[in-house]
Amino acid sequence: MTADTIPSALPRSDSDRAATSMRRLMLAFLVMGFSALLVGATIGPLQALNYGGIDAYPALRPLLQSYYQGLTIHGVMNGYVFTFFVTCGLLVYLPARELGVAPNLAMWRACFAVMALGTLCVFYAMADNSSSVLWTFYPPLKGSPFFYIGITLLALGSTMPLPILLKMRATWRRHRPGEITPLVTYMSLTTMLMWGLAGVGVVAELVLQLDPWSLGLIGTVDPIVNRTLFWLTGHPIVYFWLMPAYVSWYGLLSRQVGGKLISDPMARITFALLMIFSLPVGTHHQFSDPGFSSIWRGILVVLTMSVATPSLVTAFTIGLSLEYAGRLRGGRGWFGWFSALPWGDPSVAAQVLAAVTFILGGATGVVNGSWQLNAIVHNTTFIPGHFHVTVGSVTAMTFMAISFWMVPHLTGRQLVSRRLALFSVWTWFVGMTIFAIGMTWAGLYGVPRRAWVSALPHETYHALYGMASVPLALVALGGVLLWVASYTFFAVFFGTILFGRRTAPPPIPFAQSFGGPASSTIDSPPNPAQSASPLIRALDHIWLLTGVTALATVAAYIPILWPFLHHVTRAPGWILW
Ligand code: HEM
Ligand code: CU
Repeated sequence: MTADTIPSALPRSDSDRAATSMRRLMLAFLVMGFSALLVGATIGPLQALNYGGIDAYPALRPLLQSYYQGLTIHGVMNGYVFTFFVTCGLLVYLPARELGVAPNLAMWRACFAVMALGTLCVFYAMADNSSSVLWTFYPPLKGSPFFYIGITLLALGSTMPLPILLKMRATWRRHRPGEITPLVTYMSLTTMLMWGLAGVGVVAELVLQLDPWSLGLIGTVDPIVNRTLFWLTGHPIVYFWLMPAYVSWYGLLSRQVGGKLISDPMARITFALLMIFSLPVGTHHQFSDPGFSSIWRGILVVLTMSVATPSLVTAFTIGLSLEYAGRLRGGRGWFGWFSALPWGDPSVAAQVLAAVTFILGGATGVVNGSWQLNAIVHNTTFIPGHFHVTVGSVTAMTFMAISFWMVPHLTGRQLVSRRLALFSVWTWFVGMTIFAIGMTWAGLYGVPRRAWVSALPHETYHALYGMASVPLALVALGGVLLWVASYTFFAVFFGTILFGRRTAPPPIPFAQSFGGPASSTIDSPPNPAQSASPLIRALDHIWLLTGVTALATVAAYIPILWPFLHHVTRAPGWILW
């Protein structure tokens, strides 16, 4: 078949208008995302200095009125805006190119526009200090309508890639009946289905409670119901942060290091399990909330440990794929394969280093997930220590890694400097590791998270936190290194877009894999001899997976929400800043 006989096939020639529009839009998603990170990563180190006892905030007025205003901006810009924009770009662009099917451009543009409008609203609400409610916006803290409406738009916009993906897959299947969905598309689709289901919680919280409340249409809200709805989305969001990074690790990295993905089925099993397990366990963020039976808390621990399994599978599958490539490149012995990887490629270095930090992230996550251990670390700096070696490294570094090949691919411009790019990822790795060790360690001394400790009188700060002075110094040091790392990265990122030398755009490094269907664009020769295992065929029934996930979630949440709905709390709003 040729592209002419398939109206929806992606145009082959890169000079084509549709292909150009796709590239431009993808670049716009990247630029928006990384601009948000620029704001967030400017503020983050101020928070690290705060824990080190240095209070920069009086000098920052009137730009920032308080530590909490800054912390709200940091959490929202990094946790929502940065991750959503990059993900909603990637998970449409990569499948479109893998399948050779054009996405619905109008819909993809609408996704961008809705999220951009949302960002504008939230940013306005945060900048005027009307909404220093932090990224979790727990009621009865009360922000302005712009804040909640902005978050509503961001949440809704971030699910819009789902229909685009479904449509592209349907088109592809019409031309290749009976074949298995190609891997990158499969991973993107399960991520978006997971997120579409998960989003129901926070959208219900916003639309039924916080939006009308902030607009004055209703007088009170129920904090515990809203916290529960928030975490119905708030736990899965951590997988919405991780899974796009896994897409790159499974779908691209093995090619970038010069090998093959060691197991296509393992990648699919991982994504299917992440989809099913991540929704029912959201209430593990409420181990310290009232109103849950201890039996349910026990079940939750077991369920939470099972969601760690697919991440362990990922560690081994990716580890083995890296080893395979390292040995192909001549690496010998126990660790020789590791040093034989192409460390000179900043995109590879960033992803391998991100994977290394994830060891600390996974280990601390298991601590958080255990009810008893959670009681020790709850609301201490241990928690942000944990998630900066997950989303702050795995996601952030993998997205940087992607930008290193993708910006040249989209713009036809060479990276302005590989050495600066390498410097930025190594500094980020070292800085984030020092920072996270400091935060988790300080948390074990009971240093509270979300606390403007540097505003305390000096004697009080030392009396309270003197015993944690070594870890807190590490936090501050890590923060300063992260400033250096992020500004170097932004110099490379924006420098390449604006001033990079013209070059032939590099192709997308789609990996080949063992045990999976041959990668197939819509107009490549059909692949009838493919012998996918029954398991892989079963996993390709995405609606079955969706149904199972929805059922498990309903089963988990009805017993929790039912008693709450029968003992309604009516809280008026608080403005504490
Ligand atoms: C919170 C520092 C990058 C997401 C924090 C906190 C610190 C910090 C010290 C804890 C503040 C507190 O509990 O009072 C930094 C530094 C960064 C950085 C130095 C390097 C540039 C990131 C990235 C992300 C991120 C890349 C996500 C993509 C968050 C979130 C919170 C947070 C969601 C929670 C805010 C809250 O508790 O309300 N950060 N961070 N940070 N950070 Fe970062
Ligand atoms: Cu969680």
